[in-house]
Amino acid sequence: MSDNRWKTAFEPYRAKTIEPLGESTEIEREELLRQCDYNLFRIPAEKVIIDLLTDSGTSALSAEQRAGLERGDESYAGSRSWLHLESTVRDITDMREIIPVHQGRAAEHLLFSELGDEGKRIVSNGLFDSTRANILAAGAEPWEIPILEGLIFERNDPFKGNIDTLSLEAELKQNGDNVPLVVMTITNNSLGGHPVSIRNLRDASEICRHYKTPFFLDACRYAENAFLIQQREPGAGGRPVEDIAREAFQLADGCWISAKKDGLSSTGGVLALRDQDLAQRLREHLIVVEGYPTHGGLAGRDLECIALGLRESLDESYLKHRIGQIEAFAKGLRDIGVPIIEPPGGHAVFIDASAMFPDLSIDLHPAATLACEIFRTGGIRGVAISAPVPRRRPGQADVSRMELVRFAIPRRAYTQNHLDFIIEVLEDILRRASAVPGLRRLDSNEHVNHFGARLEPAG
Ligand SMILES: Cc1ncc(COP(=O)(O)O)c(C=O)c1O
Repeated sequence: MSDNRWKTAFEPYRAKTIEPLGESTEIEREELLRQCDYNLFRIPAEKVIIDLLTDSGTSALSAEQRAGLERGDESYAGSRSWLHLESTVRDITDMREIIPVHQGRAAEHLLFSELGDEGKRIVSNGLFDSTRANILAAGAEPWEIPILEGLIFERNDPFKGNIDTLSLEAELKQNGDNVPLVVMTITNNSLGGHPVSIRNLRDASEICRHYKTPFFLDACRYAENAFLIQQREPGAGGRPVEDIAREAFQLADGCWISAKKDGLSSTGGVLALRDQDLAQRLREHLIVVEGYPTHGGLAGRDLECIALGLRESLDESYLKHRIGQIEAFAKGLRDIGVPIIEPPGGHAVFIDASAMFPDLSIDLHPAATLACEIFRTGGIRGVAISAPVPRRRPGQADVSRMELVRFAIPRRAYTQNHLDFIIEVLEDILRRASAVPGLRRLDSNEHVNHFGARLEPAG
């Protein structure tokens, strides 16, 4: 990486393989939107010019990972690639029981079908859609208690992903028997991708230990969370990111990691635990739904690629560039007056669509409207997030839904010029925001709403 003398922060890698961007004209995209019921998940990727739908499974692989794909050992049981992944996850997490899965939500399904149940409550700082859906599918109740500051978009607090420890303690005191586990999502994707401080992790872990409640991490962005701790938390500056990440894992009884994020891989995930009995029960279920416990349904080449990716994502020059790229993108949007969630987190920039379209009521879906307008105008795909605001408490803004557009940034894939183009497109939309018509929903699927949505222009 460049030394501190220069202000240009360039990518700490160079391209060796390239892939052309998708192509489409504005007229084509207008027609596509109609055909696809204004649901961007249904748009063919080849028509998308810059695809920021997700940072999941969209990373560019390193030369080392590509070599790893070749080296992958496809033996059914006990393959060399499995042993490599197992020892890597043990080293990073300091947990012994490692279970491979095909992606993060498979880990959630295994865990919540074992621990969730009718009448149980899963307490969290914030749950990703698939986590919430798996909790509900198991019959349990998601109970999100982020800090209040985390819900005020324009506040610039450094750790808006934190859990409200007073509410956590009160909940475990009153209702502890019905809480089979507490989940800390690092970083807190659904609420803006904000990091959780090491202080908050320590406090929450101690409360859980006191009430004998298992403490789990949804750790798919463990490296980005650790880097943001290093950058933002008093006392953590200068501490190696790897060290910070290990401490976070040491505070937990278990975790799952979707390898599609900080694992820098196209697929896969792992569950890591300390409890041997629980691990044994999960492995029995794993064999039925995913695969043998030394592959979990993944190819040996994937296991190898994940083992390498989980370590590469802890590289500090890579993290410095990644987080710096997101900050520069956020600054560009902020400077032209786009209302974003502050401060930007580790993997995405979120636009407050309700603030961008103040005249659109919630039933005209400001988030979907904005996401479609961005695609129509510039061929850029973000994702509309329209989610209930976690449990309302006194002092909290009186809105029932968050209406956001998330631009998730794939790792090592796009350059600053791509992001500058998006800023230009947003500037164009801002100028004519009051003339953009809203969208009306034609259907409803309450569990995983954005995948199946069907909409049409209102009026
Ligand atoms: C915080 C969080 N948890 C869990 C998941 C689910 O992981 P996967 O997509 O691998 O199933 C995601 C995916 O984006 C996520 O962001």
